[in-house]
Amino acid sequence: MSAEDLADRLPDLDGRWRDAVRAVPRHLFIPDRAWCLPGEGPGYLIDRAAEPAGWEHAVGSAESAIVTQIADGATGVAEGRGEYTSSGSAPGVVAAELGLLDPYDGDEILEVGTGTGWTAALLSHRLGDENVTSVEIDPSVLAVAEENLRKAGRSPQLVLGDGTKGHPEAAPYDRVHVTCGVREVPYAWVEQTRPGGVIVLPWIAGWEGAHLVGLTVTGDGTAVGVFHRACGFMPLRSQRWAHPLLEGDFRRSSTLLDPRRVVRSSYGAEVAVAGMLPRVCGTYAEEEGGGFRVWLWSEDSEANARYSPEYKRIAVWQRGARDLWEELAAAFLRWVSWGSPDRDRFGMTVTPEGQHIWRDTPGNPVISPVVGP
Ligand SMILES: C[S@@+](CC[C@H](N)C(=O)[O-])C[C@H]1O[C@@H](n2cnc3c(N)ncnc32)[C@H](O)[C@@H]1O
Repeated sequence: MSAEDLADRLPDLDGRWRDAVRAVPRHLFIPDRAWCLPGEGPGYLIDRAAEPAGWEHAVGSAESAIVTQIADGATGVAEGRGEYTSSGSAPGVVAAELGLLDPYDGDEILEVGTGTGWTAALLSHRLGDENVTSVEIDPSVLAVAEENLRKAGRSPQLVLGDGTKGHPEAAPYDRVHVTCGVREVPYAWVEQTRPGGVIVLPWIAGWEGAHLVGLTVTGDGTAVGVFHRACGFMPLRSQRWAHPLLEGDFRRSSTLLDPRRVVRSSYGAEVAVAGMLPRVCGTYAEEEGGGFRVWLWSEDSEANARYSPEYKRIAVWQRGARDLWEELAAAFLRWVSWGSPDRDRFGMTVTPEGQHIWRDTPGNPVISPVVGP
């Protein structure tokens, strides 16, 4: 499967980016053994020596992200278990990010999260090596990226460091391309971008998925923009928000609101609820026999709610300072009361004081209903 074929699988990409995909073959950046995450279905090991056709198929697929590191390197990638910590992003998602980035010739770019080096190489091909700075936090990942880039004949400036600080030495940038999931946008990126410049990043809303947002920097130190498509990205290392270690009994209660409805209503609900409940995370899982469970946590509280087909009411367990289930339910029902607006009605503003999500216009921030414990 050639780079030509992959470019053909990215029909929405503009001509200059397609030329870059043709000129910078993805297969130069993917190791012989890695863990493939196809667009749908479970992940699987790809092994170039044992099954070359399977490897080529995965590398040439527009939907496949290829995991190249697990648990910061503590677990072998062939096991496929543990937290994914570096990867070659799925080309379809890369194409969406590059489309939003939409640079002019000669623009200077900061990339956060070099990973395999493939996206840095695409940027370098499009804009020139001298205009691309890519920051990676993991020295072993960066060393491999450097070698991959050398094989591809590209040499952007590579920086080992924490990309949340940007790279002030080469600022200002016209564009910032972020390839890790972001919960709170580091203000350094806004400070290091020219007025009118654009920051494209995957924003991790409360649940595990992310939503691409393109923020344009205004002249007064603010960045503002709207949400686009959904994607999956591993979080910035400093923004892996662990489940708190709490003690004490759970408060038990019940609710009529079905957690499946809350979790699966729409991307609009996901963005709105995350905007109303900053620093609250959640996950969910189907259970045997048709059950469904949602877990929520913040720095000082946790909750879980379980739907069972046998009961009309949903069981809720909570502990810590906050009643997170009630907060989630109130935020979700507020979104319903707005007429269940979809994701494209929401945007984000970043200022030196922090970030907020808004509905329809930047002057209309989403605000959480007050819910007491
Ligand atoms: C999804 S991968 C990058 C994919 C890359 N665009 C590609 O296609 O090869 C995300 C990378 O971000 C890196 N990363 C995580 N936190 C970071 C941080 N604070 N600063 C710089 N890099 C970071 C990870 O080590 C990982 O290599």
